[in-house]
Amino acid sequence: MKTSSLKLKTFAEYKKAYKKSVENPEKFWGKIAEEFTWQKKWDNTLSYNFSIPEVKWFEGGKLNITENCLDRHLENIGNKTAIIWEPNDPDEESRHITYRQLYVKVCRFANVLKSNGIKKGDRVCIYMPMIPELAIAMLACARIGAVHSIVFAGFSSSAIASRINDAECKMLITANEVYRGTKRINLKSICDEALKKTPTIENVIVYRRTVEPTEMTAGRDKFWFDELQKVNQDCDAEVMDAEDLLFILYTSGSTGKPKGMVHTTGGYMVGATYSFSNVFQMNDENDVYWCTADIGWITGHSYIIYGPLCAGVTTVMFEGIPNYPDYGRFWEICDKLKVTHFYTAPTAIRSLAKQPIAFVNKHKLSTLKVLGSVGEPINEEAWHWYNDNIGKGNCPIVDTWWQTETGAIMISPLAGITPTRPTFATLPLPGVQPALMNEHGEEITNIHEKAEGRLAIKFPWPSMARTVWGDHQRYKEVYFSAYPNMYFTGDGAYRDATGNYRITGRVDDVVIVSGHNLGTAPIENAMNEHEGVAESAVVGFPHDVKGNALYAFVILYPGVEATDELKKEIRDLVSSTIGAIAKPDVIQFVKGVPKTRSGKIMRRILRKIASKDTSNLGDTSTLLNPEIIQEIIDGAL
Ligand code: WTA
Repeated sequence: MKTSSLKLKTFAEYKKAYKKSVENPEKFWGKIAEEFTWQKKWDNTLSYNFSIPEVKWFEGGKLNITENCLDRHLENIGNKTAIIWEPNDPDEESRHITYRQLYVKVCRFANVLKSNGIKKGDRVCIYMPMIPELAIAMLACARIGAVHSIVFAGFSSSAIASRINDAECKMLITANEVYRGTKRINLKSICDEALKKTPTIENVIVYRRTVEPTEMTAGRDKFWFDELQKVNQDCDAEVMDAEDLLFILYTSGSTGKPKGMVHTTGGYMVGATYSFSNVFQMNDENDVYWCTADIGWITGHSYIIYGPLCAGVTTVMFEGIPNYPDYGRFWEICDKLKVTHFYTAPTAIRSLAKQPIAFVNKHKLSTLKVLGSVGEPINEEAWHWYNDNIGKGNCPIVDTWWQTETGAIMISPLAGITPTRPTFATLPLPGVQPALMNEHGEEITNIHEKAEGRLAIKFPWPSMARTVWGDHQRYKEVYFSAYPNMYFTGDGAYRDATGNYRITGRVDDVVIVSGHNLGTAPIENAMNEHEGVAESAVVGFPHDVKGNALYAFVILYPGVEATDELKKEIRDLVSSTIGAIAKPDVIQFVKGVPKTRSGKIMRRILRKIASKDTSNLGDTSTLLNPEIIQEIIDGAL
């Protein structure tokens, strides 16, 4: 982006831009969109109707996001490093890939996709570790108009299979193995397990991350490198309509299977890039930006790849984990790569803050300018530790609130511009119109008085998800039925008398564990698959490192013995069905769970028991089985 004219520089400029964005959103976003490369300008900036719901931005505009991430930069910054890749093993060499090299690699791999029958609109599942080829695969899809559906490489084979089947993906791109700390994990064998149940997959492309022998199925599986030899490196960008699909990304819901959030090309590009440029304020061409998220999550999509590359900055991809070879790894990398802008999650901050401070103090951290936080509320203690020990009191912290569904940061300070307040995500970005709703479903409009409520957004923004893949009705029910003509976030929020927001957490049955959204229903379903389990209920409870942890109340069939071995089996079942991140920390065997007369589990009470906060359980008179409560409390772990 030729951001100079659009990057806000002062708080007064922010306020002015915000005001304009509310008074005339179309003009505001239209001007920003003009800074990008379009093959044809749009006819209509915005049309929307939240009651259908339907949202279209920049309709009729033609573009390709990779021309904005790559081609456009070749002339001026072709030799600038686009991606620095830092391997799991600090003794392995890092890779520096320039914009020009990335462009060539993306075009070439795009031709591999084409030669394997992938066309515009086809869905491609990517299940890869944090290596540059993951970025290349996703951009190659975008280059030819294929829709990528990236599945985090910590998910289990059945989680991959259900996502592939939901999106009817034609191709799977993976790696043979992945390094994670001291472990080597065979991704390909996890894929092979999934591929037994995925009839739509025609080809599998396998990148060799290690030299180990890899089992390949003839006719279906092909090595990345072999395929590259068969094609050239010229690939024109497919002409995409602004509203053509860019990607699908699955996020947990409070009920049922994960939702495939659909993001489209033009609005997503504009939202991700505008927010990136303004929130992080990378003002020096030598600045190096590092977001520690995995590309399998929305943070990695918007703020490792699309936003930073469209903005023409240097973005770091890290393959490893924060505690390998030791707890100083993040800080070692910051020094080694001269990182100036560092973006991570509160759960990582809390776990590193628990370690001896020598792990931090061994490193200089003198290049850092801006620190970011994302994924869950950051508590006061973690905020100060981050500010004092990592930022040395000199780096503004941007606490960025947003969601897979919003595509881009919605509420956050702009680094060095917005006054920060610990634990507050502060103010909405220009173009974002939050609404705080009271318990009667009315908007609390007085922004000069403190208030608490549920967070909704009352006007469309370009990067919002357009639907749930294959289930528009669900999109409507989950996001557009709580309040008429508003998008409901599922989060609670507090607002201070100066209009700063603090996000207080989910108000539905989604629990955020170590920054990962987990729906409780799929975990319960997985546990209920065990032959000894009659019923189960999962809730979150506060955890000092993970933010929240999972507590499972499990009812066994008569005659089944409650043993530790059984607990392990149940945990393993959750791990193999969903992934290790969904394993409950605590399993308590119970005779029953509190239920309403209509048979609904009273999770509110279970949450209090799990949190050891049983002094006031509220009204239990409407329960079908109030006597069960004391029994559960007595057996609580
Ligand atoms: C939570 C991650 C407080 C919130 C980008 C939201 C946060 C959910 C923050 C979305 C923050 C994210 N402060 N809570 N700065 N950022 N959340 O889809 O509950 O993985 O609804 O997107 O994370 O998680 P998701």
